[in-house]
This record gives sequence, C-alpha cells and structure tokens, in this order.
Amino acid sequence: MIIVPKTRGFICLTSHPEGCAQNVKNQINYVKSKGSIDGPKKVLVIGASTGFGLASRITSAFGSNAATIGIFFEKPAAPGKPASPGWYNSAAFEQQAHQVGLYAKSINGDAFSNEIKQQTIDLIKADLGQIDLVIYSLASPRRTDPVTGVTYNSTLKPIGQPFTNKTVDFHTGVVSEISIQPANEEDIENTIKVMGGEDWEMWIDALKAENLLAPGATTVAYSYIGPLLTEPVYRKGTIGRAKDHLEATAFTIADKLKDLGGKAYVSVNKALVTQASSAIPVIPLYISLLYKIMKEEGIHEGCIEQIQRLFQQRLYTPTEIPTDEKGRIRVDDWEMREDVQAKVAELWKQATTESLPAIGDLKGYSTDFFNLFGFEVPGVDYEKEVDEMVEIPGLQ
Ligand code: NAD
Ligand code: NA
Repeated sequence: MIIVPKTRGFICLTSHPEGCAQNVKNQINYVKSKGSIDGPKKVLVIGASTGFGLASRITSAFGSNAATIGIFFEKPAAPGKPASPGWYNSAAFEQQAHQVGLYAKSINGDAFSNEIKQQTIDLIKADLGQIDLVIYSLASPRRTDPVTGVTYNSTLKPIGQPFTNKTVDFHTGVVSEISIQPANEEDIENTIKVMGGEDWEMWIDALKAENLLAPGATTVAYSYIGPLLTEPVYRKGTIGRAKDHLEATAFTIADKLKDLGGKAYVSVNKALVTQASSAIPVIPLYISLLYKIMKEEGIHEGCIEQIQRLFQQRLYTPTEIPTDEKGRIRVDDWEMREDVQAKVAELWKQATTESLPAIGDLKGYSTDFFNLFGFEVPGVDYEKEVDEMVEIPGLQ
C-alpha cells in the first residue's frame, strides 16, 4: 500500500515501515560512528520499541555488541492498516542485529503484567542465563496492577492551583493560552501508580528471585526535570510526583542489589519530541524554543545522541559514575545550561502565533514528530507501494 500520515490530535494513526527502518539505520550508524563502548553484554530493555528505550537497545547492541531482549506494547499491521511505529522499529532493529550475528529477541505485551514478566524470565533462562543491564523506559497512560487487577490512569495536571500558560498546536502553529485544573489526591496517587517506580521494582524483584541478574548488574530508569517554566505541569505536577517516586525507587532497588554488587540509577534526560511528550500541554512550545537555541549553539541532541552519551560518558567509563547531589545521572546538562534557559525564558515572553516561526523551531518539532512515525525521513520514497505486513524476526 501507499502510506501517508493520518493525524488526529497529538497522535498519528499511520506509520511507514521504510521510514521507521531508515530511522533505525540512522541511529545504528550514529552509534557506530562514535566508536565502541566497553559496555553491557546481555541487556533487557523494558519499553524498547521507541524513544529512549529504542535508543538504549541500539546503543547496547551496536555500541557494545550486546545481546538484547526488548519488551514493548505495539500493534502489528493488518492488511491495509499499518502497524504502530514501534513495531516497524523493532522489526528493523532485529533484522540489522541478526545480520551482524547479534542475538535480539522481543516480547510484545503488557510489561506491567505477571504474564509478560514470566515470559521474559523464561526467555532469559532459556537463552541468556543472566542479564547485566536492565533499562526501564516505559511511558504509558495506564497500568493495571497485576496483584489487584485495578487499572490506574495517569494525568498531567498541576497540584494545588490551576496552571495557565502558553502552548502551541504544532500542526497549525497556533499559540494559545491554556488553563489546566489542579489534580485531586486520587489523580496524584494514580499517576504515581502508573509512572512511579513500583513496576520497575517488581521487575527487578522478579529477575533477582530467579537469579537472572549477573554480579555487578546495573539497572537504569529515565526521568525528567525541566525548567521553571514547565514546573507546575511537569516536575511539580502529577507526573513529577511519579518521577519523585521513580527516583526514590532507585535507592530501594540499589539496596536490594547490594549483595550482587549491582547498581540502580535514574538518568535525567533532556526534553525531546516523542509520542509521550507531544501529549503534555506547554511542553511542545518549550521544546520548539529549546530546539532553536540548542541547534544554534550546536548542542542539540535526539534520543540516540543522549543515550550514546549516557553509555559512553556516564555509565561505562573507567571512573565512578558521576551523579548530582540526589544521586541522579544527568544528561540534561546541556538543556539545563544557564545561558540556554535564560534564552528560552526570554523567547517565551515573545512567543505568539506570528513570532513563533521565526523565534522557535516549529519546523524541527513537526519534522521530529512525523519522523516518529517514519514520515518525512530523507531518502524514503513515499510514493512507492510498501508492504505493511512486516514481521519482527525475533518476536516470541
Ligand atoms: P515512548 O513513548 O517513546 O516509549 C515508550 C515505550 O514503552 C515504548 O517502547 C512502548 O511500546 C512501551 N510501552 C508502553 N506501555 C507499555 C506496556 N504496558 N507494556 C510494555 N511496553 C509498553 O517514551 P519515551 O519518551 O522514550 O519515554 C521513556 C521514558 O523516558 C519515560 O520514563 C519518560 O518519562 C522518560 N523521559 C522522556 C523525556 C522526553 O522528553 N520524551 C525526557 C526525559 C525522560
Ligand atoms: Na522508550
């Protein structure tokens, strides 16, 4: 079929297999261009099909020749209906990995469930024995607690008072003001249930109970802080409470891994266009201003640049892993640079529908968004018929 983008609000309903495959190849080439990393050898990535998780899988495999197992929740194609982008990404990744003789298998299903954890345990036992790196990179709007069966929905709300600020619809470029009503106690608890550290800890408990973590094993989950501008809706909002919980869980897990000489970290990453972040109000405007400045400064990074730097310059160096005063790894250091933030704050005041095309990188935002779905990728012929029915070679 010929596949074109079909958007509805913050999502794109279609995705392009060849565009996704080209994105994956570009990421692989980037990692290879940065040289080899004396990194992990057997890696489990939970949330491996898009965004930071995919970049972690690619960096592990093509940066340090690691065997990888990827867990994700993606939709296969049906005739005439393309798969979700993470499906095509994973298919492309596994083809490339297998071509160079790297072990790569995947499990598609709900990572929050006991069943998927059990399937993963069985696969590790059968194929890899022990894992030396577990990346936890889930972003989900809901989670069903496997013990109680109760489903929780996360929210993106301020806490204490309503929040009013500018935002942009990056499809139309219209800058408008939005007000978000504050969360109640239940919203806060539900968001912590979904995006906090409980499931990360359950994964590590399950793996450790089966003796599937190698001596010195490391686990890393991803967090975000961001500027004062977005604080009410992000770091001091419901999602921020969940990130506080995730960060606290790193210490709980680190204690549990002590007897193995293992480690648990949160890495604070920079703001990027992903399916998850496009849905957060105010963030797209912030990102479009941030991109403009970081590109001008020559310090712009995407997921793959961030994660490659995380592995090569933070996690796998001969010296101790550098962390901030709260024990977190920081690869948001360039985003948070004082001069960068001062410029964003200044542009923020000026941002209107009329001024944004000049002062912000709206085009970059939009291109990155369509790239997520395999569209607007250089070198791909979108006029050409493609086979939407792609299989993931290592899918269990
Ligand atoms: P993403 O949406 O690109 O990736 C989410 C992944 O989770 C996908 O692989 C998806 O298949 C998987 N997933 C979702 N629900 C699942 C389920 N129930 N079972 C199995 N797999 C499931 O998200 P992302 O932006 O890469 O975010 C990953 C992490 O990084 C999140 O913790 C996020 O908060 C954090 N982070 C994001 C940003 C940003 O700007 N995007 C910045 C810093 C930190
Ligand atoms: Na991810």
